[in-house]
Amino acid sequence: MSAIIVVGTQWGDEGKGRVVDGLAREAQLVARFNGGDNAGHTVVAEGHTLKLHLTPSGILYPTATCLIGAGVVVNPERLISEMDELAALGVDTSPAHLKLSAAAHIILPTHRALDGAREEARGQTALGTTKRGIGPVYADKAARVNLRAGDMARPEHFAERVAESVQAHNRRLKEQYGAETLSPQPIAAQYYEYARRLIPHLVDGSALVGRALAAGKTVLCEGAQGLLLDLDHGTYPYVTSSSVVSGGALAGLGFGPQQVSRIIGVVKAYTTRVGAGPFLTELLDETGEQIRKVGNEYGTTTGRPRRCGWLDLVILRYAVRVNGLDELALTKLDVLSGLEQLKIAVAYERDGERVQPSVAEYFPAEFGVKALAEWRPVYEELPGWADDITGVRDRADLPAAAQEYVARIEELVGVPVTFIGVGPEREQAIRQ
Ligand code: GDP
Ligand code: IMO
Ligand code: MG
Repeated sequence: MSAIIVVGTQWGDEGKGRVVDGLAREAQLVARFNGGDNAGHTVVAEGHTLKLHLTPSGILYPTATCLIGAGVVVNPERLISEMDELAALGVDTSPAHLKLSAAAHIILPTHRALDGAREEARGQTALGTTKRGIGPVYADKAARVNLRAGDMARPEHFAERVAESVQAHNRRLKEQYGAETLSPQPIAAQYYEYARRLIPHLVDGSALVGRALAAGKTVLCEGAQGLLLDLDHGTYPYVTSSSVVSGGALAGLGFGPQQVSRIIGVVKAYTTRVGAGPFLTELLDETGEQIRKVGNEYGTTTGRPRRCGWLDLVILRYAVRVNGLDELALTKLDVLSGLEQLKIAVAYERDGERVQPSVAEYFPAEFGVKALAEWRPVYEELPGWADDITGVRDRADLPAAAQEYVARIEELVGVPVTFIGVGPEREQAIRQ
């Protein structure tokens, strides 16, 4: 078989966790390829509501090995507490089932402190990060000074290097930000214990993936965040610090493009964003409030209210191009039930003039945030539906207006919708 890649197409929280859970039955390996515990992936199945930050969303399946890949940045404290919480629910998080790539990078408490200090220093222009240390740890990775999971194999040496890194970070905290420093020794002692605990989980992640693919197995690659948070292709600087796109799966796990059989983009039936930055279809009115309430749009990781708005097909067309999407998984269609009229953005305009298709055909991320501020979405209106659709399992049984909504997305984006979420539970979906 081959690799299936699942990515977010908007600003994250599209429902990647539940889509990966839905596909994991067919997979022998489920691997997270980017981001860290800034991600929060929800899986509602088998009587559990799991909020996963680092563990791949295939963890409920004993038949699928789970891998935290090289492209991921790991806060060991968070990983261990997540493993313990899952184990308490009876979920297998043993080293045989949950593996950690030796090349994944390690987050220290001082990375988190630096994240917070930098956000504070930015004041009005703060990015609204999750303060999980993501920016600072990827910066250290690129600067080639960071510790990797494989370094834990020698816990004493690892602990010494942790102390040195904390000291280096402390100098920056003090000199650059006038912020409080952290005591290196207790952190080193903690990390020594984390290392001892995590050693049995360490693997050569790329070799694991390579062997699975060579043996004809299905590898499900789980992305975190969404396209517009991508470091290169998102709304920079209001982005995260990793490669979120489908290509990031290849780089973050270590396998070649000829192995990829399906690339699935997860898209929410409307748009949300946590944190600061441009959002052209944002609704600051009662409709936005209603969507937030019905869709329970509060951050999985930070609990912050998510900004809500209409679906933006300019973004979705951009996602198709940058990721090479074969299919769309449309989630949360049920949340739109009861809205009389729906809008979808089909293009952008500036000074009342439609921006040339050559530019607006795709989301103009490379033009930067300032250019985006001048542009307004051009909407198409579609009728809403009143019926509860949470029990629908066949697309033909959806109300006519809901069918039309999905068909219009397919028509304007040019990619089929192969999955429709009509509720958060594993079974609440239309698959084709
Ligand atoms: P992720 O980060 O992309 O995995 O998404 P999150 O888990 O952060 O946010 C998605 C939220 O929507 C979670 O609370 C899910 O349980 C929920 N969800 C996913 N699909 C659906 C759906 O089709 N309908 C409804 N009502 N909720 C959904
Ligand atoms: P999942 O995988 C939604 C956002 C933050 C902030 C920006 C940068 O659950 O979809 P960071 O902490 O990464 O430096 O923050 O990115 N962000 C997310 N928003 N879902 C996520 O992950 C996110 N991960 C980061 O809110 O705007
Ligand atoms: Mg999330």
